[in-house]
Amino acid sequence: MNEIREKKVWWPDPPAIKEFVVKSPWIAEKHRAGQFVILRVSDNGERIPLTISDSNIEDGTINILFQEVGATTMALGRLNEGDKINDLTGPLGRPTHIEKYGTVVCVGGGIGVAPVHPIARALKASGNRVISILGARTRGILIYEDLMRKTSDEVRITTDDGTYGRHGFVTDELKEMIKSGMKIDLVVAIGPPIMMKMVCKVTEPYKIFTYASLNTIMVDGTGMCGACRVTVGGKTKFVCVDGPEFDGHQVDFDEMMARLRQYVEEEKIAREICQKNTCGVK
Ligand code: FAD
Ligand code: FES
Ligand code: MG
Repeated sequence: MNEIREKKVWWPDPPAIKEFVVKSPWIAEKHRAGQFVILRVSDNGERIPLTISDSNIEDGTINILFQEVGATTMALGRLNEGDKINDLTGPLGRPTHIEKYGTVVCVGGGIGVAPVHPIARALKASGNRVISILGARTRGILIYEDLMRKTSDEVRITTDDGTYGRHGFVTDELKEMIKSGMKIDLVVAIGPPIMMKMVCKVTEPYKIFTYASLNTIMVDGTGMCGACRVTVGGKTKFVCVDGPEFDGHQVDFDEMMARLRQYVEEEKIAREICQKNTCGVK
């Protein structure tokens, strides 16, 4: 259990992007699109949430894809095929509400493309027309393009530096689609909080319902610690048990972004220690 069966390095330079296929038959069987796991790399390590980006019930495996942004993701990235993840809990969070909406635009920014993938697949399987917009800083770090082509009727790509697809942001593409008169019944946005905020600003005037999958700081993942709280429609919600998806037009993104930055000093110290030693990984 929790053994890493495959390791893929999507992007080697810091911050590296890696993907693991992990043996976890129970989670592989039970999870639904939109759910996540919480893991620890070592006994004294912190807990971090990662989305289940793919799974294989026959093999009893789940996929997790992560960017090495700090101490714990760096420690995780040092594990190799055959190693075990110390502990892995899930599936957590509410599954995405899947029904036949009509035309759905799935927007994934950066590593946010990985969490969008199972949602796009479930929406397509329910008879929706799925148009995906995938955004990356540059062509080399674009992930899951092939998988998204399989689960979408159409894929549009944007890069910030113009090395692939449209030169610009996912919001430029979305704006153009809306202005062209395309009837869009739902937008799903997953990516950096600023991207989700901007997507919601684009869709709000047109009253296009937009799900944003929030990536707040989490500790227990079961609604007890309050670390993941956000304000949605003026009310306090816990992302781990009430989400992670919410009506993006109701989310206070500025408050959420401020809360995400509250431990940057401590995280910087932990990252530096991790860069100098093994980070608890042999
Ligand atoms: P740190 O240096 O400790 O933190 C870097 C930044 O990450 C912080 O400034 C803060 O904004 C955020 N962060 C720190 N600790 C946590 C924490 N315990 N929980 C959440 N965010 C934290 N990332 C991926 O790469 N792939 C995914 O599939 C993915 N799915 C996620 C699903 C959910 C539901 C949530 C809430 C987050 C998800 N994240 C995902 C973000 C991931 O959890 C953070 O990048 C990770 O926790 C950073 O930890 P660190 O120690 O490496 O970095
Ligand atoms: Fe503790 Fe959500 S992570 S309440
Ligand atoms: Mg950390």
